[in-house]
Amino acid sequence: MVDRCHAHCASAPPLRVPVVPPSDDGARLVARCVRGIEEILVDELGELGTVGAVGHREVHFTARPGPGVLALGTADDVFVIAAEARGIGRARTGVERLRAAVAAATCTASSGNGSAAAAHPRPHARRVGVGAGRARVQPVRPGGRGRPGARSRARGELPLAAGRRPAAAGGLTWRVTVGDDRATVALRVPARPLHRRAYKTASVPGTLHPPLAAAMLRVAGAGPGDVLLDPCCGAGTLPIEAAGAAARVIGSDADPAAVDAAAANGSGVAVTWYVADAGALPLGDGTVDRVVVNPPWARQVAPRGRLAADPDRLWWEVRRVLAPGGRIVALLPDPRPPAGLVVRRALPVSLFGAHPVITVLTPR
Ligand SMILES: C[S@@+](CC[C@H](N)C(=O)[O-])C[C@H]1O[C@@H](n2cnc3c(N)ncnc32)[C@H](O)[C@@H]1O
Repeated sequence: MVDRCHAHCASAPPLRVPVVPPSDDGARLVARCVRGIEEILVDELGELGTVGAVGHREVHFTARPGPGVLALGTADDVFVIAAEARGIGRARTGVERLRAAVAAATCTASSGNGSAAAAHPRPHARRVGVGAGRARVQPVRPGGRGRPGARSRARGELPLAAGRRPAAAGGLTWRVTVGDDRATVALRVPARPLHRRAYKTASVPGTLHPPLAAAMLRVAGAGPGDVLLDPCCGAGTLPIEAAGAAARVIGSDADPAAVDAAAANGSGVAVTWYVADAGALPLGDGTVDRVVVNPPWARQVAPRGRLAADPDRLWWEVRRVLAPGGRIVALLPDPRPPAGLVVRRALPVSLFGAHPVITVLTPR
């Protein structure tokens, strides 16, 4: 249900990005996220500015442009709204309104804001990527497949439409969504989607989507004096995202190759890494305040070592090392509590066709 088209503005003047409306409160932005974590994203955005409408996988907000927008942990991506048009129906007049809105957002006016341009390594890139989708659909992705019919409609509406070339590195990506009777034209703020973390160069099967890891960590709520553990750390996403939020962050895994990947991703980050079976953790009783884990479910990743024979051994060990008042946040296939634990909160999410549940657990 998504289409993508690109325009190559080789002869266009340097791009200047008009952002509407300029206001004392900052720019109007929209952050996109994994389905199911909208309320956690709202929480994070509330620290940055004023939250507005919350929709399916997106939250509108107003904030002053700055590093905080580029450092959002739970957002997959963030766009600045350049133009909006109402009365966009299926009739031809709707197309004209959309055309006018897009024209108002193109590369002509000088900007009083320029947050998006400032975030790009090449703010005056002349190649413009244009993504066109409909509201409540998947985000625009290069090579994304569209619903039959959507492509020609979207392409025809866009004055920039021409060719099918991907945007050049450093180019600008526009997002056009049409839902109900409203069209929104927005420009990606960072040079690449926020969910693509620069640190994540090494990977393992089943590695966690970083914004989902960030959401789990917000739910875990580790304090500056806490010890946080991920006993199945894989490529290290959870500990790396957690670094700095707790007094001590530990990542361990039974697979030495996974620990190597985690240590490579986390080089320069204050995390203690080691190889250990989560069924026999080398930690004392009651020494950990937060356990955050994405355990092997035998789908993408098979349990090994002691967990291969008895997966519940993980929860036995986690209960043992957890300090009084401690909390576990686990990504589970369903919200049923593992033995000896009580579910305090369950947040079902949707990601890549799977529907795991962020589950907050405490000992019974
Ligand atoms: C779903 S992956 C975790 C991915 C990780 N959160 C990431 O972002 O890369 C599950 C991990 O559990 C590990 N694992 C399997 N059996 C284990 C055991 N007995 N003890 C510790 N880790 C184990 C696997 O090696 C794998 O890295």
